[in-house]
Order: sequence, then structure tokens, then C-alpha cells
Amino acid sequence: MSKLDDLFAFLSIPSISAQREHAADVENCADFLVSKLASLGFDASKHLTTIHPIVVAKSPSVEGKPTLLIYGHYDVMPVDPIELWESEPFTPEIRDGRIYARGASDDKGPIMALIHGVQEILAEDGQLPLNVTFLLEGEEERGSETLYEFIKDPAVQKMLDCDVIVVSDTGMADINTPTFSYGLKGLCCFEIKVSGPAMDLHSGLFGGAAPNPISALCEMIASTRDANNVVTIAGFYDGVMPIADWERQSWSRVPGMSDRELSALTGSRALRTEKGYTGAECVYARPTFELNGITGGYQGEGSKTVIPTHATAKISCRLVPGQDPQRVMNCARKHFEKVCPPSVTMEFFDGHTGEAYIIDPHTNYGKAAQRALENTFGTAPVLLREGGSIPIVAAISKTLGKDTIFLGLDLPDARIHSPNENMRVEIYEKGIELTKNLLRLMGEE
Ligand code: BES
Ligand code: ZN
Repeated sequence: MSKLDDLFAFLSIPSISAQREHAADVENCADFLVSKLASLGFDASKHLTTIHPIVVAKSPSVEGKPTLLIYGHYDVMPVDPIELWESEPFTPEIRDGRIYARGASDDKGPIMALIHGVQEILAEDGQLPLNVTFLLEGEEERGSETLYEFIKDPAVQKMLDCDVIVVSDTGMADINTPTFSYGLKGLCCFEIKVSGPAMDLHSGLFGGAAPNPISALCEMIASTRDANNVVTIAGFYDGVMPIADWERQSWSRVPGMSDRELSALTGSRALRTEKGYTGAECVYARPTFELNGITGGYQGEGSKTVIPTHATAKISCRLVPGQDPQRVMNCARKHFEKVCPPSVTMEFFDGHTGEAYIIDPHTNYGKAAQRALENTFGTAPVLLREGGSIPIVAAISKTLGKDTIFLGLDLPDARIHSPNENMRVEIYEKGIELTKNLLRLMGEE
């Protein structure tokens, strides 16, 4: 099938990993990849797990050449709010030079660009310039639980043995600016629940006397940062890797990342950065404490004068190299225990964690990847660290003892995780060319 037909078929499978009703679709998606890679002569197999399958596919061996391990994820985020989509999320459609579908940029488009890069080299040269192994999982968007287990097995480690790892699941500064990302943020997610009265209370009969758990939660959350937007949780910044001078300089030149542009891009009236740092520096290299959701009390139509029984907040902290996710989560727990008013009780629920990741961008493979970007896009790449996370990357790299190199194709307006996710056809085609350049250059290392 043509490169667009293959991508469309891939995008048509609703492989939403978080939703139980899509489990069969996720498995179909794994089968689709196995048959596609097998058709290119790869030894491809589907490994069942307790959640979603993992696909591993190895190229026919190319003697005396290095091995490239390509990691990606074939699962996608849920589609809601569905009413904001201009076309069906799993019926891909091209409008204004963009392919619209859930997963178009995160991460099915980039995966298919890698596969078709391989396919074109095979068609042109009859063989690959190096050994290629694909490792494609179906749980990245929900925390990669079973892949963490999978890579602990020594037999799996042998199967995945490689010289370097490549991931195309990160960002690109803009359509004309190839991007070499040399770091990812880590994260820790948790939830706090504050409970007050044993039953919903009339706010006139008991207000002013009974504790309000929503107020308590708000006060507790307000205590986590000061007027300079510095996080006040004791120990939060311990170990944080400082930003090097060359990084500040490099980041100040990334298109679209000036404070003014970031403010426009996010549709905000102004930025709210940690004092002493630009918006780009905060995104790339400062740890953050972010509220993702807060609930409690009456949310329906009209007013209801009530003191509710409880309130909850979902929180995630993005972390940088040098921070231990579990330790940061413990610091947060201690902080909330300390500031929790005695009139209410608090429960703290640990969520998933992942370590930050950073490489030296100037290794031989790093330089080869930067050359491949320059050859493809006609200009040298910008170097940056990502604000996003792919938690399993640090674990894979550490387990296999090899660097991971990121060649991201997600543009800032690709709307990943949002309605109308898209990928420009032009970028998909560049991705294929990039794969060919990369494989050929790495084959010479
Ligand atoms: N592909 C993204 C991560 C990404 C996007 C990194 C753009 C850099 C630039 C990945 O699929 C993702 O969304 N990761 C989640 C991880 C979470 C669900 C554990 C994230 O960063 O929120
Ligand atoms: Zn994602």
C-alpha cells in the first residue's frame, strides 16, 4: 500500500489505551503493525501482556553493522470532547495539507514515517544499511505499565540489544526548524482528597461553624507557591540540574518560544513564569507543579447552598534531570500533611512516575542524527530539551545501557491530545526522508 494508504489504515484503528471498550481495537492495531512489518521481511511478533500487546520486529541481520532500536507507541489518547472535532477522529481526512485524526502526530504518523523510510530504502537498495529493531507499545499514554515489566526479562533485553535507540515522539519547533531534542522531563502524578463533614450540610444552618473541605483544599494548594512562582514544598528543587549558559543561548533562539510568542501561542494574557527564568527555560528545564483538575461540591445548574463532604485535586509535577520522582512525591505528601487544617482529613494517592532524561548531544550518533536533520530540512537543527515526558525512555535507555535520540515531528499546532489532532502531509513526507538519511548515516558509524 502507498505511504498515505498505510497511514490512513493505521489511523483508522481506534487504539485508545485508557478505555476498556477499546481493548480489541488496541490489539487489532498491534496485529496491523505485525503484518505490515512482516511484509517488509521483518521477524515481527506480538507479545501479549496483562494489558495491551507489545510489538517487536527485527530486520534481517546485516553483518558487521550497528543495530538501531526504534521505540514508539501505537496507542492514542481518548477523543473527548468529541463535539469539537471537525471530522471523525478515526476517519482520517486531509484538509489544507494536513491529515486530521487522533494519533496523526502522537505517535502514529511518526511511526509510519519510520516504517516507510525503511520500506523505501529496501525498495531502492534491496537491503538496510544497518540492523533495525522496532519496539512498539500500546500503553504509553497510560503509563507503559507492562513495558516496564517486559524489559526486566533478560531474554527480552537480549532481543532488544542495540547500539543506539531512536524515538520520534517529540516536538519540532516549527515547520522550517528541524529540532534535536536532547532531554525529556520526568513526572510524578498524584491526587489529594480532603474530607470534612460526614454529610452535605446546609450552608446557612452550619456555615461559619463547620469546616469546608473545598476551602481547605484551596488553602493547601495556595501554600505550594510564593509570589515569585517558586514552589515552596520543602525539598522540591533538591538536585535540580542547573541550566548551562550554552543552553540559555540556544533556547533564546528557538522560533516561537520567546515570552511574547508563548503568550500568544497559549492564548494567555501574559505568562506566569518562575522568577529569574524565561518561559522557554521554565518549559524545558525547570520543575513545575501543575493542577490538572479540581472537583468538589455542587456543579449543576443554578446554585445550591451546601457545604460538601469532600474535595479532590489531581496534580502532576514535571521533573528535570537530578530529581527523583518518588522523592518529590514524598515531599509533596509531607507538605500537604503539614498544611492540612486540623478540622479536615486528607488522603494522598500516588499516581505514576517517570524519570527525566538527558543525553550529551555531541556523541557520534547524536552528531549523525543532527546531520540527518540538516540534510533533510536544509538547515541545522535547534537543540532543546522537551517539556513533555515519555516516562519509559529513561527505563529503556538505562536497562539497555544505550543513548536515546529524539527526532520529533510534532508541530506546536499539531494539537496532540486535543480535538482536531493533525499532521502536515509535508512533515510526514519529510519524516520518511529523515528516516532514510538517518539510517544511512548511522550505518556508517
Ligand atoms: N508524545 C508525547 C510526549 C511529547 C510530546 C514529548 C511533544 C515532547 C513533545 C507522549 O505521548 C505524551 O503525551 N506523554 C505524556 C506522558 C504521560 C501520559 C505519562 C505526557 O507528557 O503528558
Ligand atoms: Zn501523547
